Amino acid sequence: MTSSSSMLELAGGARYPAIWLRDNCSCAECVDSGSGQKLYGITDLPPDIRIRAVEQTEDAVTVEFEPDGHRSRFAGDWLASRRLDGPASGSGSAPADDRTEDAKQLWQAADLAGSMPTEMWPAFQADPARRAAGLEALRRLGFVLLRGVPVTDRAVLGVAESFGYVRRTNYGELFEVRVEEQPTNLAFSSLPITPHTDNPYRDPVPTIQLLHCLVNAADGGDSGLVDGFAAAARLRTEDPLAFETVTRTPVTFRYADAAAELSATRPLIGVDPVRRIREVRFNNRSMLPVALPADRIEAFYAAYRRFAELMYSGEAQLSFRLEPGDCLVFDNTRVLHARTGFRAAGRRHLQGCYADLDGAYSNLAVLRRQTRPTTGSGQ
Ligand code: OGA
Ligand code: ZN
Ligand code: ZN
Repeated sequence: MTSSSSMLELAGGARYPAIWLRDNCSCAECVDSGSGQKLYGITDLPPDIRIRAVEQTEDAVTVEFEPDGHRSRFAGDWLASRRLDGPASGSGSAPADDRTEDAKQLWQAADLAGSMPTEMWPAFQADPARRAAGLEALRRLGFVLLRGVPVTDRAVLGVAESFGYVRRTNYGELFEVRVEEQPTNLAFSSLPITPHTDNPYRDPVPTIQLLHCLVNAADGGDSGLVDGFAAAARLRTEDPLAFETVTRTPVTFRYADAAAELSATRPLIGVDPVRRIREVRFNNRSMLPVALPADRIEAFYAAYRRFAELMYSGEAQLSFRLEPGDCLVFDNTRVLHARTGFRAAGRRHLQGCYADLDGAYSNLAVLRRQTRPTTGSGQ
């Protein structure tokens, strides 16, 4: 190359801008070899960076930049796997994100009836392959049922700790789901509870919920799960304007008792910057009056109603009964949970706690490393 360029162009049409290459230099001056972390920030790089010279071998490209004369070597396969455009690239596609609908297998009740993702707790605990399978179900389907968890007080905390970290809240490390005299939450009564996500009044919301059944001798008290992403995707197909309304209307959720006052304002369906479905918050019990111009209220309510109908339908709701020793682990940003009412005379007692998806996905990634060595990075 004789004159400088702002773009590296390789055979086959792959193009890499100078500033992007310079920011991804992995030489010992640029990246700490132990941690793999970058040693500089964007303002340390010249704003007018260009490519002065290129040397290409069979398996690498070495670039010399100006004005600073820095030299960077890029392996050919590293470049090939990060194509930004050109025929073989995912031009315009967003990066993979485990939290979005792209990484999920959406389901209706009939898809999983009789084949719920289930693992036995002793194997989940002891066998990395079984734990990976369970966590993979949590990632892909949004939940896993663990059976054979000891029917003992606080055992739910051990389940959360087997793959992540308990999220302690104002309810404590765990909460008791049983009939109370003066319930602060309808979950602590014998009333039916329609499909909902927990704690939408928190930001960040707990991203994993666990419910461990200790006693279920009541007449009623059956459980339901709904794939909120599937319902959101249906709403988008069926009524794109309703989907727009639900994703663009902020809703405030609130919880207050003698010791706590919590609120968070988010849409019922959260999307990522490229509008992939990424989070559902849905809880009629804790929703405050929606604040919108009067002439937009009806459209919001129609969309909200349709979204609710999709989630409350028998087609959407997977119904089953928790038995003592069962522990449901579910993605509280996607899967809604419900229970039927029961006769207060029968005993029913669950213990629940919260945890987070980042810890579970980290555990899954580590379990999958097998023999592949990794480089550190990230803060
Ligand atoms: C809860 C809840 C459901 C049940 O405690 O968050 O929704 O099965 N409980 O009692
Ligand atoms: Zn460098
Ligand atoms: Zn709940």
